[in-house]
Amino acid sequence: MSIEEITASELNPEQFIAEQVAAICDTVGEGLAINALSGGVDSSAVTMLSHKALGDRLKTYFIDNGLMRQDEPQQTVALFAELGVHVELLDAQDEFLDALAGITDPEEKREAVTQTFYKNVFGRLVRESGAKHLLQGTILTDVDETVAGIKRQHNVFEQLGIDPQEAFGYQIIEPLIQLRKDGVRKVAEALGLPESVYSKMPFPGPALAARVIGEVTRERLALVRQVTVIAEAELADIDAFQYMAILHEDRVTGMREGQRDFGLQIEIRCWDSVDARTATPTRLRWEVLEKLSSRIVSEVPGVVSVTYNIATKPPSTMEVV
Ligand code: XMP
Repeated sequence: MSIEEITASELNPEQFIAEQVAAICDTVGEGLAINALSGGVDSSAVTMLSHKALGDRLKTYFIDNGLMRQDEPQQTVALFAELGVHVELLDAQDEFLDALAGITDPEEKREAVTQTFYKNVFGRLVRESGAKHLLQGTILTDVDETVAGIKRQHNVFEQLGIDPQEAFGYQIIEPLIQLRKDGVRKVAEALGLPESVYSKMPFPGPALAARVIGEVTRERLALVRQVTVIAEAELADIDAFQYMAILHEDRVTGMREGQRDFGLQIEIRCWDSVDARTATPTRLRWEVLEKLSSRIVSEVPGVVSVTYNIATKPPSTMEVV
């Protein structure tokens, strides 16, 4: 089934919201629905849209998969509480980290996160709640890239011939599937979400697992999380589509206190893009890069190399995994 795109320029956010609220009410009927909030613009828009449609008949969870950025779970739950939406925080860190143990292949990592999320953690929540519907923030770019075989997005099933009802026991509703990121931002703003959310930089479904090359362990996640805090602070004023820090698998020779130190490599990426389909590296000022590098090597133990990616998408993709 082909999906009819609604471009950001032709989108009427109020009309879109009214239509989607009506469609959600129609599909869910008198039943219960469930959704997972990650704090990104897509899942935040879906949460507000679905609460508008279903009120208390929607249960929203933040699943702490252990792969999120520093304090992200608690901050997201607190922000939605301010907006009057109760979000249940569920600690599923062990389950995700166990599923990722020993895996180094990028697609297998993505698959491990997907299966743990949809089949185990979410499947269990849906069964316990009695909900028949799951609302999720799939957008058109997720579908395009999965169908093209570029990258298996975390949240795309039907287009791959996977019947969510059969595979996981629930039906998936995707109110944003006709939009791209720029359209979702307009809808999020019209839904009353704050700018910190509607302008928020994208963050991938597999979260920091997409930024660790090689095995994802607690220690390696903690390291990339610490570097991410530095990168996001130093690049906060840069007008870019997205920026990120990546932990490489290979170690390289460095030196510390006159001794050889076979250390870790961090790669920084910062992208200019409109809709994530193509992207070019931002021409960062040398001083910005220098400050990033000096903070990372001095504050993060074991790092001896910091690089900045200058290849475009394509042939690169924005995330490394
Ligand atoms: P790539 O790496 O495919 O990224 O060039 C394009 C955009 O998509 C984000 N991304 C994801 N988003 N689930 C998501 O919801 C995913 O599995 C996923 N992988 C990548 C990425 O951060 C970028 O904004």
